[in-house]
Amino acid sequence: MEGTRIRRLEERDIDAAIALTDLEAWGYTREDFQRLLALSPDGCFAAERYGRVVGVLTTTTYDDLAFLGAVIVAPELRGKGVGKEMMEAALAHLRATGVRTVQLNAYLNAIPFYERLGFHREYEVIRWHGLAKAGERVRGIRPVRAEDLTGLARMDAKYFGANRQKLLARLAKEFPSTFLVAENRGRLRGFIVGNPSGASCEIGPWVVEPGSRRVATDLYRALIDSAGASQVALSGPSQNGALLEFVSESRFKEVFRALRMWWGANEFPGDPAGLWAVGGLEKG
Ligand SMILES: CC(C)(COP(=O)(O)OP(=O)(O)OC[C@H]1O[C@@H](n2cnc3c(N)ncnc32)[C@H](O)[C@@H]1OP(=O)(O)O)[C@@H](O)C(=O)NCCC(=O)NCCS
Repeated sequence: MEGTRIRRLEERDIDAAIALTDLEAWGYTREDFQRLLALSPDGCFAAERYGRVVGVLTTTTYDDLAFLGAVIVAPELRGKGVGKEMMEAALAHLRATGVRTVQLNAYLNAIPFYERLGFHREYEVIRWHGLAKAGERVRGIRPVRAEDLTGLARMDAKYFGANRQKLLARLAKEFPSTFLVAENRGRLRGFIVGNPSGASCEIGPWVVEPGSRRVATDLYRALIDSAGASQVALSGPSQNGALLEFVSESRFKEVFRALRMWWGANEFPGDPAGLWAVGGLEKG
């Protein structure tokens, strides 16, 4: 759109980015945008019009896979091509840096927008809110240690689809007492990360070897204990049957659904049977 410029999102744009995402009640905080900028400083974009930020989009790259999210345009400028321009700038940047696959979690209303840009449908990701019963101490679960990260990232890559070690390292620093791992006879079976805020706790990433439902629930109970949370929120793949049983037994409430979509070469499908919660709808 004439008069609109797509440029890098900078630290000084964070207030404007939060003001935009608050219009959709997405709940992004300063820390969330700082984390996204730290993970991919060149991969986050703003649309600027006469000195005002009117659009935002972030990307997070893991190996040759990038996750794209927080796509928003100011309400009065929607439908005028700004979203498409931001997406094309981001996809061109990612392609130029060697990314072969781009994934995202689309709000259902935005699916046609992404399909027009060449994205394909994959599976639904469901957002839940729930009440947590008081946690219990569980054996075999402990806080993450720096020396776990390489092994955890290798295990995680089987299910996520690419190596997220830089994200895991950042989360281990930010949440040392609510990033928990399950270790059994010297083998890492899974991990969970909680981002507590008051009485509530955002859960994810939460990754567990398929067939280990007990490990997944032990991680959850230990997290509730460490975080002291009474409310939880998480988003997980509809294709993980054990997760669906867990949320139903826990009486969590479905809040909305998003659709996982991919673009480029679908080279990093991962295995959603091991994914219990995404690390954030915007960064996979
Ligand atoms: C989704 C959003 C980012 C799209 O940005 P935009 O600037 O309004 O979209 P554009 O004007 O660039 O549209 C590009 C194309 O997609 C189409 N399109 C955009 N939104 C659409 C929708 N909801 N349904 C169908 N088509 C849509 C446009 O018609 C246009 O088609 P064309 O290229 O054939 O002309 C914007 O509408 C928005 O901020 N929505 C609210 C937040 C949101 O839901 N974000 C997505 C999170 S996953």
